[in-house]
Amino acid sequence: MTITILMLMGGRSSEHEVSLSSARGVMEALDPDQFAVVPVLIHPSGTWTHDDRPVTLSAGSDGRGVLIDLDGGPTTAIDVVFPVLHGPFGEDGAIQGLCEMIGVPYVGAGVAASAIGMDKALFKSIARQHGLPVADAVLVTSVSWANDDSAIQVAVGAMGYPVFVKPARLGSSVGISRVAAPDELDAAVTVALRFDDKVLIEQAIVGQEIEVGILGDAELVVSPPGQIQYGADWYDYQTKYESGRAELQIPADLPEEVTQRVQELAAAAYRSIGCEGMGRIDGFVTPDGGVIISELNTIPGFTPTSAYPSLMAAAGISYPELVARLVGSAIARAERERTLRR
Ligand SMILES: Nc1ncnc2c1ncn2[C@@H]1O[C@H](COP(=O)(O)OP(=O)(O)O)[C@@H](O)[C@H]1O
Ligand SMILES: [Mg+2]
Repeated sequence: MTITILMLMGGRSSEHEVSLSSARGVMEALDPDQFAVVPVLIHPSGTWTHDDRPVTLSAGSDGRGVLIDLDGGPTTAIDVVFPVLHGPFGEDGAIQGLCEMIGVPYVGAGVAASAIGMDKALFKSIARQHGLPVADAVLVTSVSWANDDSAIQVAVGAMGYPVFVKPARLGSSVGISRVAAPDELDAAVTVALRFDDKVLIEQAIVGQEIEVGILGDAELVVSPPGQIQYGADWYDYQTKYESGRAELQIPADLPEEVTQRVQELAAAAYRSIGCEGMGRIDGFVTPDGGVIISELNTIPGFTPTSAYPSLMAAAGISYPELVARLVGSAIARAERERTLRR
């Protein structure tokens, strides 16, 4: 019996285009003998279309989802939703909440883990509570910045420059600045506040950027760490997406004990937020071999050449196997949850 997968792509966030590339890769990797794919494009405006026809997802009568053609065309029963959406409204628990309401299995982290993974401030506070090493940071909101910017300047000065200023809930390096001196802080915070009213001012870490892929629920497959090589000052938008500017070397060139520590901390970070399905943990290894956990992406970039599938390949899991296991894990979770009395 084939499993019908609703592939959600595009989305309302500034990572719309990245999502389209990721979704193309996933669709090509899904074995057509096992899976029937129904692609749905979420437009930047928020409307959904399938084959250029407006559609919406609703609850079916049989514990499945149903894709409804809003112009009166045929409906399609949906077994699993695969959100290949990056950033706000896709990776932050919003679409996961819709799937929970409808009662249809979906790939990846649940509502809470998605929301925490999306919010760099929330993630850091949970990670810190679990004893994981994270960079010092000062949290700013549009209100606190308007009322109290001099106190914030003092707190940042005490932490020490340079700092990175970033919107708490975004990705792809959008809205992020590296700030070398106090007189540049105001401009950087103003930029970041355009993207989110929650902004982190974070101590700059000097070290090698590393990434670890994780797949699984109760049992985890943890990839070897990869190291990101680039010529720019930091891993900004151009460096991430213009071809040839950055390279991921897998495995990272690290002593065995540091590799092990990176993998243990990545798994601990994954567990700390209750992540499920998949996650990519990014961090730094400092020159003295220390490890800093930076962020956890619950729907990492997913083109066949993206970091996450490459890391999983290094862990022995091919791209087609990866997407098939993610679908299997979504179905298994839904079955587990069906037995809960709520
Ligand atoms: N505290 C920091 N120290 C050093 N570099 C940082 C720091 N925060 C961010 N960066 C740089 O900015 C990039 C993007 O920041 P990150 O927090 O990973 O946000 P995004 O979700 O946009 O990827 C990082 O890959 C790194 O190059
Ligand atoms: Mg990042």
